[in-house]
Amino acid sequence: MSTAEWLARDAASVWHPFTQHSVWLSDEPTVVERAEGAWLYDTDGRRYLDGVSSLWVTTFGHGEPAINDAIREQLGRLDHATFLGSTHPVAIELAEELLSVAPRGDRRLSKVFYAGDGSSAVEAAIKMAYQHSVQSGRARPLFVRLTEAYHGDTLGAVSVGGIDLFHATYKPLLLKTLAAPSPAVYDRASVSAADAAAEAIRALDAIMAEHGDDVSAIIVEPMVQAAAGILTYDASYLKAARELADRHGALLICDEVATGVGRTGRMWASEHAGIVPDLLITAKGLTGGYLPLSAVLATDDVYASFLGAPAEARTFFHGHTYTANPLCAAAALANLRLMRERDLLGHVSALGERFGELLAPLAARPGVTNVRRLGVMAAVEVAALGERTGFRVCQAAKKRGVWLRPLGDAIVIMPPLALSMDEAEILVGALDEALSEVIG
Ligand SMILES: Cc1ncc(COP(=O)(O)O)c(C=O)c1O
Repeated sequence: MSTAEWLARDAASVWHPFTQHSVWLSDEPTVVERAEGAWLYDTDGRRYLDGVSSLWVTTFGHGEPAINDAIREQLGRLDHATFLGSTHPVAIELAEELLSVAPRGDRRLSKVFYAGDGSSAVEAAIKMAYQHSVQSGRARPLFVRLTEAYHGDTLGAVSVGGIDLFHATYKPLLLKTLAAPSPAVYDRASVSAADAAAEAIRALDAIMAEHGDDVSAIIVEPMVQAAAGILTYDASYLKAARELADRHGALLICDEVATGVGRTGRMWASEHAGIVPDLLITAKGLTGGYLPLSAVLATDDVYASFLGAPAEARTFFHGHTYTANPLCAAAALANLRLMRERDLLGHVSALGERFGELLAPLAARPGVTNVRRLGVMAAVEVAALGERTGFRVCQAAKKRGVWLRPLGDAIVIMPPLALSMDEAEILVGALDEALSEVIG
């Protein structure tokens, strides 16, 4: 079947996420037929370097034999069994593995609650935090969220989000929250990251001083507000958020959906600040980019507040049909073990440094307003020159065999974590040429 025929069938029957269908076909979408390593192959036989790791999920690459084998073996044993009233070995092993690599410090994450994707884990964490407050003696109905935050698309997650374009429409439907200014939004030409963080900390302090007793949790994307355009910020903000949450008896939720599982060069972005949240959310790269699975890691303190006689109804009445699906868990377990065996974190650190060197000259280009990076999570922001400049740069890169996706006019660079140094050069080379084509 030709690409045009696939696209006609797609347009006739499919509604895509985050997609304006009036321009869907004229934007010439890719029909991906297969993938291998860091490369996607389309129905015309062309190949593209997967510069956004299939929306920030791929760790070792597409079709990694060890993960393929783990899923196949699991398929031969158990496809699915409910996690309500029964359990299974692979989900137990995965919980143990996850806890063994959880951030360490002044508290211990000791329990794993599984969910399906990033949004559903955020939803679980929000409900957990509120119920924890109720069961600890004082109902705290408020959440503190950051402006520019993105935590997913379900209504609880939208409630703690802060990207107007995505979230404003739903305002009448949302939970009660307090918006704290993002430590990541500042004039980078004239203000230091540390000063921007200090100002945001003062604002958070004031919010907590006034409302802290009613706040269940402060929720943050640690170190990088990803969906807002890979907005990086100073670690001092996270340390202060940890301290302020504790001072006011609120929880700190770190949403590591985008930043976790090695993306920033550490296993968890929270580690850059040396803090441990009360609830840590992981998804995306957890299964190596294969299957949907997420988890909320909780401290003993949070978990303990849910214990009691069944009649007390302290149970966490929350879960999904496919919670802890064994195939997903097998992929995640293989991915985490492989990360250790192959020292993927060591590679990510080196690869991040290499991206830093390669991207530095782009920052000096006219039309490029900022280059930001932490680990293998970067953005090249371009000035708006006419409509959809970021999109046009990505289309120009695509012609050169590199698949990128913008967030507004920020070109996101989030390739598979195991990308080779040569592939990093191919990626940035194509982006460089694409920038020349579009912005001169
Ligand atoms: C920080 C963060 N939280 C939550 C989500 C939502 O995850 P999902 O799309 O898997 O629901 C995302 C998605 O990009 C994210 O970046």
